[in-house]
Amino acid sequence: MIRVTKLHIDHEIMEDYNVLVSRVSAEEAYLFTKQTPILNVMSFLQETPLDFIEKYYNDDLSERDSSETKWAVKWLSFVRGDNVLSVGCGPNFYDDVQFFPAVPKRFYGIDVNKNNIAFLKYSKHSEIQKWKMFLKHHFVRMELRCGSILKEQPEYANQFDTIYAMGVLGMFSRSETTSVFKYLNTYLKSGGLLIDIDWTDCHLPSDKLRERKNYRWYSQNDLSINEIGNIIEDTGHHILKEEIYTVTNPETYGWGTIYGFIAQKS
Ligand SMILES: C[S@@+](CC[C@H](N)C(=O)[O-])C[C@H]1O[C@@H](n2cnc3c(N)ncnc32)[C@H](O)[C@@H]1O
Repeated sequence: MIRVTKLHIDHEIMEDYNVLVSRVSAEEAYLFTKQTPILNVMSFLQETPLDFIEKYYNDDLSERDSSETKWAVKWLSFVRGDNVLSVGCGPNFYDDVQFFPAVPKRFYGIDVNKNNIAFLKYSKHSEIQKWKMFLKHHFVRMELRCGSILKEQPEYANQFDTIYAMGVLGMFSRSETTSVFKYLNTYLKSGGLLIDIDWTDCHLPSDKLRERKNYRWYSQNDLSINEIGNIIEDTGHHILKEEIYTVTNPETYGWGTIYGFIAQKS
């Protein structure tokens, strides 16, 4: 029996909660947290809450016609090959396919937040359903993995024609960034493409940025775009294309600059 009140969340209760979620299936945990809002609130202590994920996803959908989103998603038109991996895939995993030039045969996603994977697997959101069905009708083999890209995933070695990351790779320290790009290099097939689209020059209010840090959603790091480019080149890639977009209304948008790299495994 879980004893929860809005004002009383202690370690014992957290342990009860952790034992509970480890004993039920991901689908049961997803439905349970959706129906029991206090557990959703509690889950921020270890997970990004489903409410946050759903709101992020809906906000993203409503910004699809903005020039910033249009600039960012155009990089997905460079995705190529049968085997594609999205790192830090977030809740947009399925919909990203509408921006690819062709439907891949295998489409994999990895994200550190368990609730992102649960959202993708069990949400009844109409847009999620639409693109999931689209992929199923095209017989795409999909795999969603809950894991950190800061850890090497040996099963991914030499598997992918394209790996892309949107709003992910700019958040790590220099040594983490170097490790991640080294790992990604080993996941690419020879000549494979790496696409990195990211946001920098943060203008988010400090409470919003803190929330994102707590949820392992995003954090600000001091690596410049040039330094990221150097790390990409130093970890076995050759940059084919590099562009920067300057946001005209950074205070309202929350970010001042968006940038993209396309690099090929050398
Ligand atoms: C700003 S969101 C971007 C999500 C998605 N790529 C998009 O285009 O909207 C950053 C994503 O990276 C994920 N993430 C953060 N740290 C990670 C890590 N170490 N390993 C894997 N995913 C991570 C977060 O859970 C989140 O889904």
